[in-house]
Amino acid sequence: MRKKLVVGNWKMYGNLIENEQLLNTIVSDLAGLKIEQYAVCVPYPYLSSVQNKLKNTNISWGAQNVSQYHKGAYTGEVSASMLNDFGCTFVIIGHSERRSFFGENNDIVAEKYVAAQSEKLIPILCVGETLEQRDRGITKQIIQEQLMTVINKAGVESLRKAVIAYEPVWAIGTGKTATPNQAQEVHVFIRNSIGTQDINIAKESTILYGGSVKASNAAELFAMPDIDGGLIGGASLVADDFVAICNTLNN
Ligand code: 13P
Repeated sequence: MRKKLVVGNWKMYGNLIENEQLLNTIVSDLAGLKIEQYAVCVPYPYLSSVQNKLKNTNISWGAQNVSQYHKGAYTGEVSASMLNDFGCTFVIIGHSERRSFFGENNDIVAEKYVAAQSEKLIPILCVGETLEQRDRGITKQIIQEQLMTVINKAGVESLRKAVIAYEPVWAIGTGKTATPNQAQEVHVFIRNSIGTQDINIAKESTILYGGSVKASNAAELFAMPDIDGGLIGGASLVADDFVAICNTLNN
């Protein structure tokens, strides 16, 4: 059975007081639900306080980015081993906001993926097309390139210790969710692409959907056979909404 997962991506939101309130509710409301099914990926400065709050709970945590370099004179960067110092399980790699605002191309994303795994962090590898690419009919080609750059660099076996997130760029923060069928179609495509390399890894790969997931649409998305959970932006900042989405996974 594939692992199901809901991950909150806080992006560049929050402060110490708000985080505390958000986590208090999430921790108490999710207590007792299955272990290792929930995580939050938070801004770097909050990793220490989030670690203190979430250790000994059933919620994991992680970061939203990592350097491709291990150490050195790279001002402003954070290495995978530093994330390990704060007990991170996950790190988001290649989010579309990193790709579009910070110039991360497929090769850099693949390097970051390798750096994360070298420190036993689980990369959440984001792939997805822009609206322009979808309209041009090249969605699958774009996703294939994003995926294959990583597989060519890290090997298909690496996917055993990774999570993939399909996030159509046009659905992120726009309120415009992919329909369950639109998302399922791409999830199957991703699974089949992995399957051309290794059928068992394809079957076991956890593939999340991200892009305007809300409490009101999570159930129909997560009900699709190849959608194994979600990567949640805006709704992960509202405790009741995030808890409702996590609960959907158990239904
Ligand atoms: P929203 O849920 O706010 O659309 O963001 C999705 C996302 O980018 C998660 O990584």
